[in-house]
Amino acid sequence: MKKAVQFSRTGVPSEVVELINMETATVGDDDALIDVEAAAINPSHLLTLSGNYGVQPELPAVPGAEGTGIIGAVGKNVTNVQVGDRVMIPPYTGTWRQQVVVKAADIAVKFPSEGDPIQMAMIMANPPTSWLLLKTVVDLEPGDWVIQNAGNSAVGQYVMQLAKIYGFRTVNVVRRDGLEDFIAKAGGDICAVDGPDLGERVKAATGGADIKLAIDAVAGESTQHLADCLVDGGTIANYGLLSKKPCQLWPDDIIFREITLTGVWLTLWLRRYSTAEERLKVYNELAGYIADGRMHAAVEATYPLAKIKDAVAHAMQGERNGKVVLLPNADG
Ligand SMILES: NC(=O)c1ccc[n+]([C@@H]2O[C@H](COP(=O)([O-])OP(=O)(O)OC[C@H]3O[C@@H](n4cnc5c(N)ncnc54)[C@H](OP(=O)(O)O)[C@@H]3O)[C@@H](O)[C@H]2O)c1
Repeated sequence: MKKAVQFSRTGVPSEVVELINMETATVGDDDALIDVEAAAINPSHLLTLSGNYGVQPELPAVPGAEGTGIIGAVGKNVTNVQVGDRVMIPPYTGTWRQQVVVKAADIAVKFPSEGDPIQMAMIMANPPTSWLLLKTVVDLEPGDWVIQNAGNSAVGQYVMQLAKIYGFRTVNVVRRDGLEDFIAKAGGDICAVDGPDLGERVKAATGGADIKLAIDAVAGESTQHLADCLVDGGTIANYGLLSKKPCQLWPDDIIFREITLTGVWLTLWLRRYSTAEERLKVYNELAGYIADGRMHAAVEATYPLAKIKDAVAHAMQGERNGKVVLLPNADG
């Protein structure tokens, strides 16, 4: 028997999670058994637990959609991985558990055995989202500026770092004071606190740069603040609903300035818009940046599975200095 987290109903995330003993599935001929090393708690997991995400699992379910682990056993037909390999657990496998059995063919990324498994555990969702936001919405050239809100989020940090790799410059909007050092250390060029006068402040800070892309995780009035920073014809890519409010955008901006508001959802790219070959290429590019330290996200705390309610309550708090990460095998 191994430990796992389960939820049988949706509601307040820290209340609906429970620790259970779970029989690990038998390893079939085409399967791999993975001992889970680390799995982050992301806003999308909290939305799933509260019943508000874009896709909901059948209940009861094991939460968590990403993680890293070590192959503990393989079936007799498996050739792409072997016992001892460190791998990215295939997307949307419930990862908040000690052991999981997957189809070996679904394992797309192998990591080196040295390095920080916690950073590797966060590869599935946020790094490719930053890639999608920077590479698929508008054409950017080296030297171009990009603006984003929730700049201190994990996606925000990856956006700054990937932008640097591609030669783009970033304005990173946050909702509170005191994050200049955090943003600078994460690789951002400019840090600005959100507000109705954001457009004027960003114009002054960038010397009036023509910003073609705004990346919006917050929605509400923050969407309009980003629009105020864009060049005419610019695009806002909304990918998050952190404020839980509708995106605000004046019709004047839509009509007279041709500002476009579009949405980006990794799940659609993974399930509908990308080929296996494209996914492999993108994940392996990102895995390289994570392994060599060019992409990383701050971590505030780690928890064993036994403290799952505390861990989820912690992840639900604002004003964190990084991710809350589960270490499922840390408590035996
Ligand atoms: N569309 C997609 O495919 C996709 C993929 C991955 C992630 N996402 C979304 O990306 C967003 C960031 O995810 P993450 O994992 O990077 O987050 P994270 O590291 O957990 O950080 C949360 C961020 O949200 C900010 N925040 C929380 N409530 C807010 C509010 N009411 N107004 C403004 N800011 C608020 C926090 O600011 P403070 O530090 O000030 O509290 C912090 O910057 C989430 O909305 C997530 O669902 C979308």
